[in-house]
Amino acid sequence: MAEPRRKPLVSGNWKMHMTHLEAINLIQKLSYSLEAADPSYVDLSVHPPFTALRSVQTVLDADDMPMSLGAQNVHWEDKGAFTGEISPTMLAKLNVSYVIVGHSERRQLFGETDEMVAKKVAAVFAARMTPIMCVGETLDEREAGATEERVVGQLRAGTAALNPEQMAALVVAYEPIWAIGTGRNATPDDAQAVCNALRAAVLADHGEAAGARLRIQYGGSVKAANAAELLAQPDIDGALVGGASLDPGELAQIVHLARN
Ligand code: PGA
Repeated sequence: MAEPRRKPLVSGNWKMHMTHLEAINLIQKLSYSLEAADPSYVDLSVHPPFTALRSVQTVLDADDMPMSLGAQNVHWEDKGAFTGEISPTMLAKLNVSYVIVGHSERRQLFGETDEMVAKKVAAVFAARMTPIMCVGETLDEREAGATEERVVGQLRAGTAALNPEQMAALVVAYEPIWAIGTGRNATPDDAQAVCNALRAAVLADHGEAAGARLRIQYGGSVKAANAAELLAQPDIDGALVGGASLDPGELAQIVHLARN
């Protein structure tokens, strides 16, 4: 069966950066920096902090900017006594399309478990948004030769309850933890091998159509200077970009490179 073409997705994860005013400024510069044809070939999402979502949404809508709104986290319940949390419905009402789930910083610094990640993935789908589910190994796990087991285990734990349609629509971000914010990135061959193992697990568990359609991003110190080689790998369908996404020109360049 011919593999359907997967449209790359480049996502800017701003983390805890940008007030709502700075965020508006950034997306305006980003939209000027994009080339007219980029959106036909590449999907782009920006993930501001919660406090900037409404402002960014208003500007994206008013100016019809060619990018989707994303969030960095969500709670799995729809409402209730969960002080400080944000629900899937709240995000969906702001036209959020993509929600990052299980980022390694949430897992490591805020105690997010595979079980919580699975609930969040299901809740994002239930609210008709798309999860970007993150998986990744530590340096110790890589050095012990346990990378694939670790990331495939995280993938399976986070997605066991999904149906094949949801599996096909899911975005997985492979982010080696040792490569995040460190300036060190996986070699394109290493990243490809892990992304291929993730796709093989989806093929085996959920069928050929889901395996062929699932988009897998690479993340971890992606910048314009290394994006082309990573994005050229057959199982890498985009990038989750942290630090470099705070520079609109750099992010636009990564989008442009994803076209080729
Ligand atoms: P980085 O972050 O690009 O700054 O390494 C990536 C991420 O954490 O999503």
